[in-house]
Amino acid sequence: MRAVFAATQDREDPLSGLRIDEQPDPEGRDGWTTVTVRAASLNHHDLWSLRGVGLSADRLPMILGCDAAGLDPDGREVIVHSVIRDPSWHGDETLDPRRSLLSERFPGTFAEKVAVPSWNLIAKPDELSFEQAACLPTAWLTAYRMLFTRGRVSPGSTVLVQGASGGVATALIVLGSAAGIRIWVTGRTEEKRGRALELGADQAFEPGARLPERVDAVMETTGQATWAHSVRALKPGGTIVISGATTGDAPPAELTRIFFLQLSVVGSTMGTRDELERLIRLCVDKDVRPAIHRTLPLSEARDGFETMLRGETSGKIVFTND
Ligand SMILES: NC(=O)c1ccc[n+]([C@@H]2O[C@H](COP(=O)([O-])OP(=O)(O)OC[C@H]3O[C@@H](n4cnc5c(N)ncnc54)[C@H](OP(=O)(O)O)[C@@H]3O)[C@@H](O)[C@H]2O)c1
Repeated sequence: MRAVFAATQDREDPLSGLRIDEQPDPEGRDGWTTVTVRAASLNHHDLWSLRGVGLSADRLPMILGCDAAGLDPDGREVIVHSVIRDPSWHGDETLDPRRSLLSERFPGTFAEKVAVPSWNLIAKPDELSFEQAACLPTAWLTAYRMLFTRGRVSPGSTVLVQGASGGVATALIVLGSAAGIRIWVTGRTEEKRGRALELGADQAFEPGARLPERVDAVMETTGQATWAHSVRALKPGGTIVISGATTGDAPPAELTRIFFLQLSVVGSTMGTRDELERLIRLCVDKDVRPAIHRTLPLSEARDGFETMLRGETSGKIVFTND
């Protein structure tokens, strides 16, 4: 089958190892189902894999892609939950030390077919297109858990989202705004800030800008470039929820401000199957839809990767199999 995969890894030149070519069909395993992929979305995770972060070289070649929507062997429309738990694990699968995401240990979703444990399949509602559904299992699920499970943000609170245009950032804007949270964002260009306002942000600022007042919580995926600003932006007792460090993970820790203002730093990773079901229901019932920047056929996936590498996304990039 045709697939998009990492053949080699290079920290400085990640796209040098990207290939679009034939790969073996998925292996059948007991308790697993093979899904015919109709749409899959690109995440920064796929760039990390090509840089050699989170994917060891002995697993190459590895089909990339964490999330997908497609058809099961009976023709049912399904959404693929990407967190693969150990068969012996019970409870919150994001806490399973042996968990992996698709494309870390098992082949990913940028292919004609992907095999996953049957437990990882959720029925796709008719209201969501395959392209919309394919945005939910990674970026949108991460944003859902950051805001509601780990951040416990209440309606009427003010939340700063660091980054305006990324997959997780746009999900935070749309979901937060739908939940009655006052969303402020930072974005690197005027165009990105304008798009964030269109998506529901209440105010948009340049990175590092002085804010009109301190916020209740900050949602961080950018990391080193914005960390000091995130700490300074918080009210006493406020919370930073962090799920990514795109620009590096060694900023000054700002320890004094953290203890003196009694701030909380909360980590968050992906989400559970149960949270994904709730997110899907929220999207349907409240007419919330992922912001899709571009939809490309899988054969043109390199173009999508280049757009993300240049930082020129404005929402999700989706690949389709016709
Ligand atoms: N822990 C988890 O489970 C989990 C899940 C999903 C994602 N993540 C991580 O979260 C991060 C974002 O993922 P994504 O898929 O949303 O990525 P993405 O679509 O490429 O978005 C990148 C975001 O980073 C912001 N950014 C600010 N300064 C930047 C700089 N100097 N260089 C590059 N980006 C900069 C961008 O803001 P502008 O709008 O200003 O350009 C944009 O919002 C990644 O590190 C990813 O690995 C973690």
